[in-house]
Amino acid sequence: MVPSTPIIALVTGANKGLGLATARQLAERGCTVLLGSRDAERGAKAAGELAEAGLAVRPVRIDITDDASVAEAAAFVDREYGRLDVLVNNAGVLVRRPPAEVSADDLRPEFETNVFGMVRVVHEMLPLLRRSRSPRIVNVSSDSATFANATEQGSMFARSHDSFAYSATKTAVNMLTVKYANAFLDDPELAHVKINAVTPGYVATDLNGFQGVRSPDQGARAVVHWAMVGDDGETGGFFDENGRVPW
Ligand SMILES: NC(=O)c1ccc[n+]([C@@H]2O[C@H](COP(=O)([O-])OP(=O)(O)OC[C@H]3O[C@@H](n4cnc5c(N)ncnc54)[C@H](OP(=O)(O)O)[C@@H]3O)[C@@H](O)[C@H]2O)c1
Repeated sequence: MVPSTPIIALVTGANKGLGLATARQLAERGCTVLLGSRDAERGAKAAGELAEAGLAVRPVRIDITDDASVAEAAAFVDREYGRLDVLVNNAGVLVRRPPAEVSADDLRPEFETNVFGMVRVVHEMLPLLRRSRSPRIVNVSSDSATFANATEQGSMFARSHDSFAYSATKTAVNMLTVKYANAFLDDPELAHVKINAVTPGYVATDLNGFQGVRSPDQGARAVVHWAMVGDDGETGGFFDENGRVPW
């Protein structure tokens, strides 16, 4: 991807963890990064720290569960830049609860953020992305999303019962990624939009009480790779830093 003007990239949930590392790495690669945060203060603080280090980073308030907030963020991007080149759907939540205790209502918060939130942002940002020469969408998924891992008896994925809802949300994200990619390829107006799902591995962040074994910087590498993939790159895939991940 070699546009003559800076690449405009939006990362949701970028005030900390993997999103913050992704924002920093994209900015280090020359992107103008819109650091998405649902809390204006946390976003301003995180963006301020990166900007102080000389990086082109600006905070954008965006709560992906809120239609008005996402619409306002899109209006801001439109007003300031007129297009969006990279969208990283990173914001996500994990609520641990064993399957036997989960009611239908208990599922809603994770689906609202991880699945409906991702679609809400894609839907709102697509008109801006289609104006880009080489638009890229990365949906941050998880190793726990795959049937391959979940059905490998004895593996940590087959035994992490309390990620019941979370894993299902990320499986839904994977399928929606594939469905978007297929539809975009068949639409002359959107055929240039590449969309992929990426897993960062098990990263030490608030999400897992910092139990992860990888740093946010390590986890962000694959996300950034697919956010910046060239025009000859794939679309509709699921990847980690070593390549394709089985569904
Ligand atoms: N850590 C891992 O091992 C791992 C593995 C695979 C996938 N992932 C995925 O990586 C992504 C980032 O997670 P993380 O590990 O970096 O966790 P994290 O440190 O808890 O960060 C999550 C981010 O999402 C934001 N967020 C939550 N709900 C939001 C909403 N409604 N609107 C906007 N932002 C919202 C949080 O904002 P606040 O600060 O305001 O809460 C925070 O910035 C998630 O999609 C997660 O599922 C993580």
